[in-house]
Amino acid sequence: MDYFNYQGDTLFAEELPVNELAEQYGTPLYIYSRATLERHYKAYDDALGAHPHLICYAVKANSNLAVLNVLARQGSGFDIVSVGELERVLAAGGDPAKVIFSGVGKQPDEMRRALQVGIKCFNVESEAELERLNDVAGSMGVKAPVSLRVNPDVDAKTHPYISTGLKENKFGISIDRAEDVYRKAAALPHLDVRGVDCHIGSQLTDSTPFLDALDRLLVLIDRLAEQGITIDHLDLGGGLGVRYDDETPPEPGDYASLVLERLGERQLTLIMEPGRSIAANAGILVTRVEYLKPTEAKNFAIVDAAMNDLLRPSLYSAWQAIIPVVKPAADKETQSYDLVGPICETGDFIGKDRELALEQGDLLAVRSAGAYGFAMSSNYNSRNRAAEVMADGSQSYLVRRRETFAQQIAGESVLPG
Ligand code: LLP
Repeated sequence: MDYFNYQGDTLFAEELPVNELAEQYGTPLYIYSRATLERHYKAYDDALGAHPHLICYAVKANSNLAVLNVLARQGSGFDIVSVGELERVLAAGGDPAKVIFSGVGKQPDEMRRALQVGIKCFNVESEAELERLNDVAGSMGVKAPVSLRVNPDVDAKTHPYISTGLKENKFGISIDRAEDVYRKAAALPHLDVRGVDCHIGSQLTDSTPFLDALDRLLVLIDRLAEQGITIDHLDLGGGLGVRYDDETPPEPGDYASLVLERLGERQLTLIMEPGRSIAANAGILVTRVEYLKPTEAKNFAIVDAAMNDLLRPSLYSAWQAIIPVVKPAADKETQSYDLVGPICETGDFIGKDRELALEQGDLLAVRSAGAYGFAMSSNYNSRNRAAEVMADGSQSYLVRRRETFAQQIAGESVLPG
């Protein structure tokens, strides 16, 4: 559930008419809802209840400082994959002691900074990384807290680009090797083995793959215990899907109770790293129709948002709902439109074959755009990146100014004369 609903014919973001926000801040415009972010965070937090747990929001989904700050105020931890994400968490008032560092390519400087600020744990993804982390921690005279990201070889049954828990994926350490690598980690002097981690993919709409992975990890944890390697926490990653169209992903509550049931008597702190299920439906992208272009083959509506603003449709053929900001009169005839951006690529589309009643100048809202929307935006075709606004009840806050041309070229220079 989210707080983007119609009042009469007009779409509202919490208590604010979206057309007024579009006039005030311009388009393309990302609008987030604070109440929705909080609601989604609480769904996880409540679901895990009294069981020791930490929700580490996956910063990659939406790393705007205001989004991170809203979650930090709820007590959220953060899953990061770069030092840039770490600095964002710190700048947003996040607690470094609740930060988990994932990712296959951590560099020595990134490790150093994370150790310096005292993060909770590194999710180590290879044996080479384990050795590098041991060296870096040793050079600082500290012990690095580690989990191994175990690749459990389960099929997440999602888009191949966002499936991460199969043998052939680059992520994690094969479950067949995991015991050996844990023994190695336990023997390294500057590492402190704390947890077991996995993340099998994103936009999962069924709990079976999660539970299959969990079963494998629990076998591993029990075997490690027999060898005197005690695991304090189990990090199940993110991946819970959201409803873009007619998907019916498990609710965080249902998922959590299945997980808790399987943990049984084990004294394990549970960590989860949700990104999409917290942020996606807490955001919309508002765009304006620039031109209608009927052709022999198709009706195009050329809108002012493009693949540089929202890449998911182009990259994954992802489907996101596109709705009018002000509903047209009921008797206005609809037509099937391809909504395309101004970028010079045939793959630049936001939606295809959508039944809409459109006129030049109309505003449209792309739903479920709060995750992997702005975060994946670029300057392709030298377009300035969009503005971002947070709706909070009857107040709106500009949380990222629309980029200017001067900002876009700030780091560039021409050759000397
Ligand atoms: N933890 C790790 C280690 C991850 O790699 C990811 C996402 C998450 C947590 C959060 O997963 P979520 O709860 O959001 O599913 N750009 C793609 C999604 C890529 C996901 C990458 N990893 C998309 O737009 O669909």
